[in-house]
Amino acid sequence: MDLNLETLRQNVIECTKCDLCKTRTNAVPGKGSFNSDVMFIGEAPGRNEDLQGEPFVGVAGKKLSLALENAGISRDEVYITNTVKCRPPDNRVPSKIERDTCQEYLQKEIEIIKPKIICVLGNTAFGSILGGTEITKFRGKVGRKENQLYFITIHPAATIYNQGLIEVLEKDIKKLFELIRELKNGKQISIDIEFST
Ligand code: URA
Ligand code: SF4
Repeated sequence: MDLNLETLRQNVIECTKCDLCKTRTNAVPGKGSFNSDVMFIGEAPGRNEDLQGEPFVGVAGKKLSLALENAGISRDEVYITNTVKCRPPDNRVPSKIERDTCQEYLQKEIEIIKPKIICVLGNTAFGSILGGTEITKFRGKVGRKENQLYFITIHPAATIYNQGLIEVLEKDIKKLFELIRELKNGKQISIDIEFST
């Protein structure tokens, strides 16, 4: 494990910078390969994640794993994290102040992993990172902000009660890894949306 990533992990585990530290069981640092070409960013830890201290280990995580497997990718090959690292009570959406306070950890993860592309999962991450809304309009598209590429898709939790959305998530994840293959082969990929800072 990379030393900077390990330090960051420890800092997250001990963090008390926002009120979510008061109600969490465990902080949930990002997890996965230091060498990953892609970083997945979800919303916030849920109940299972809070109990186990690992991201996407509950039902939504299973959906994400299945979509990855379907694209021929195993979870250990990628890096998965969240906009905030501690569970909001009753799984409410993390507040702006919580997201802003936690953002430095996300920034550091991006600096350390240097992903070729960041996969934004769902509206909270989309709003937080790119200032976007209406994920259903933007999903499946490639964005760019400050020279970083982003791929936008729905949150895996959205597929739990909607069979149709499983196909959408699977299709998007397959496209994401096709784009990554193209990037690795030095090809230019077309940008659908430029996000301003
Ligand atoms: N949902 C998220 O957004 N993140 C997790 O880690 C688990 C569920
Ligand atoms: Fe710290 Fe982020 Fe947890 Fe808040 S959510 S206590 S900023 S790690």
